[in-house]
Amino acid sequence: MARHILEVDDLAPGELKAVLELASSPSLPRVLDGKGVALVFQKPSARTRNSSEMAIVSLGGHPVVMRGDEVGLGTGRETPQDLAMTLACYHAVIGARVFDHAILERMADALDDSKSPVSLVNLLSDLAHPLQALADVLTLRQCFGRLEGLKLAYLGDSNNVCKSLVYACCMLGVSISVASPEGFTLGTGEILRAQELAAESGSGMGLNVVATAKEAVAGADAVYTDVWTSMGQEAEIETRRKAFKAFTVSESLMAGAQEHAIFLHCLPAHRGEEVSAEVIDGARSRVWQQAANRMTSMRGLLAWLVAENHGERRQ
Ligand code: CP
Ligand code: NVA
Repeated sequence: MARHILEVDDLAPGELKAVLELASSPSLPRVLDGKGVALVFQKPSARTRNSSEMAIVSLGGHPVVMRGDEVGLGTGRETPQDLAMTLACYHAVIGARVFDHAILERMADALDDSKSPVSLVNLLSDLAHPLQALADVLTLRQCFGRLEGLKLAYLGDSNNVCKSLVYACCMLGVSISVASPEGFTLGTGEILRAQELAAESGSGMGLNVVATAKEAVAGADAVYTDVWTSMGQEAEIETRRKAFKAFTVSESLMAGAQEHAIFLHCLPAHRGEEVSAEVIDGARSRVWQQAANRMTSMRGLLAWLVAENHGERRQ
């Protein structure tokens, strides 16, 4: 059966490290030569779409990009299961960006039930953004030459980006402190899963949920934030602006982190909300390196998936 990547922990820790190794390789064989990859987007995208398309082309494959509504995803025209089975007739890998994570699960189940050799990759859902987390940890590794023992602070909404990042950090021995306003914190199940992943890593590092931005950044090597209002939550924009006011990453907040601390953001960013212009456009910011790593990390993941699905790699 093909491997599906709906969340970072669909990879074992050793597999995640192998993907990062492949992502760091300057040249990869054209493992998608003559193959198609379907990319379906229910929500807008600049980075995920462009980095995925270019990763596929650089591996010799052909990307076919579709809006969700034009292939009936979420419109009632066709079930997600039938769409997955249809795309599997033409493609080696299917990627989908969806509003509801359950759609991805239904697509993956249909592929599994039919013993399809086609992998499904989450291009962002309401619950997870595993591709972003791959680029994030790759960026940390490039900036510090290691991952184990690093201290990361995440401020703001405990959203899809936060959850995938927390899981990746816990799997790789990175300590991550998350500070969110009340009502916007990680769920109990997510915290328990993060603790389980951290225990499995044996590093003694893991997740700390803290109350204030100041506590989170104390001694941090890197400070990370994301938008306060994610795609699909636009009706809550004003409530969220008020709730998150104390979580803006400013120069004065960055002063509480280590002197060498870098700033990360998955983008798109809203200057003056979750981050000040001085920080995101300043010397500590690594957001463009991080954005560039979306392509290299996707290339690494696709190369790993193709090899894995052909039984060429076993961890
Ligand atoms: N970071 C990210 O996923 O960006 P896009 O929404 O532009 O793809
Ligand atoms: N949390 C954001 C991330 C965008 C890349 C969203 O889901 O809209």
